[in-house]
Amino acid sequence: MPVITNIDDLKQLYKRRTPKMFYDYAESGSYTEQTFRENTSDFAKIRLRQRVARDLTNRSTAVSMMGAPVAMPVALAPVGSCGMQSPDGEIKAARAAAAFGVPFTLSTMSVCSIEDVAAHSSTPFWFQLYVMKDEDFVDSIIERARRANCSALVLTLDLQILGQRHKDIKNGLTTPPKLTLPNIIDMMLKPRWSLGMLATPRRTFRNIVGHAKGVTDLANLTAWTNEQFDPLLTWDKVRRIRDQWGGKLILKGILDAEDARMAADVGADAMIVSNHGGRQLDGALSSIRVLPSIVKAVGDQTEIYLDSGIRSGQDVLKALALGAKSTFIGRSYIYGLGAMGQAGVTKALEVIHKELDISMALCGVQNASQISREHVLVPADFEGNWV
Ligand code: GLV
Repeated sequence: MPVITNIDDLKQLYKRRTPKMFYDYAESGSYTEQTFRENTSDFAKIRLRQRVARDLTNRSTAVSMMGAPVAMPVALAPVGSCGMQSPDGEIKAARAAAAFGVPFTLSTMSVCSIEDVAAHSSTPFWFQLYVMKDEDFVDSIIERARRANCSALVLTLDLQILGQRHKDIKNGLTTPPKLTLPNIIDMMLKPRWSLGMLATPRRTFRNIVGHAKGVTDLANLTAWTNEQFDPLLTWDKVRRIRDQWGGKLILKGILDAEDARMAADVGADAMIVSNHGGRQLDGALSSIRVLPSIVKAVGDQTEIYLDSGIRSGQDVLKALALGAKSTFIGRSYIYGLGAMGQAGVTKALEVIHKELDISMALCGVQNASQISREHVLVPADFEGNWV
């Protein structure tokens, strides 16, 4: 067993243990993958400011999100087909997050259903909603999230139309995989994954199967998105969903200050500055690059979180320094999940926590809530001078 000291170690192990089509699904951006790459390379352009001779006793990474305490400024982002990365993946991730003291967000496109995750984790989680054309389905899934005691609704706004990821098409990605010869060979080479999958009944999009009507091919995310996702998702509809839900609302997929103002007008409790991990509009700016403009526009009105590109505690520190109240990780925990199941998610959280704690200390900061712009060095042209 290799010694795991960073998120990339988990990624290497994940790659060896998970069928190629699911590794590729997680590890892809859309089209040329420019935005996917820049989400991480732009973090590297920001530097941390070393400070010395400070009181570094009693350090704490704890902050709050949506008014509740969290162990560190990190939440688990919604990830579609998470239960294909590891058998019962959503349940494992929810449990690891609960034990660590950070929020878990369940995707609409999950393998384990809302009810199943609620039955297997005692801590309330957040539910991510995709707005479908079928209004009865949307009404009922909001009601199911309420009954499962979900403590916030995360409404995704940037995936009504799916950005193309070439590998998914080339791999013939489906949930579950089709039993073609190449897939069977690949699964035989990943025995831990295959035996786990054989042992669980959770192998389809169980939030949807049995709940949605008139679906022709539910195994294929692309076909399902094209057929079912509502291209008429407007701010009016967002307001309607807000009223129908009535609880805490987080709007996900904001990448422009004007949209951020609209999201704040809707009365969102928080928004996630995100380009969907570079999986949607290729050519869009990285999340960390647009963050300052959004903080400037609406930072005094709602909580601002950031996802897309966080692979370390140093990245978390940088996002907070540029004004995010907290962050979300997707791939960073999926690597752990695919590598080692629940223990791998815990490991990913531990790695990021330790990196954050030590980097904070070396910047002379005792508490994550005190991280500010003065703790980083940002190139003068970082945001860019776009016309
Ligand atoms: C779904 O959210 C995806 O990015 O594939």
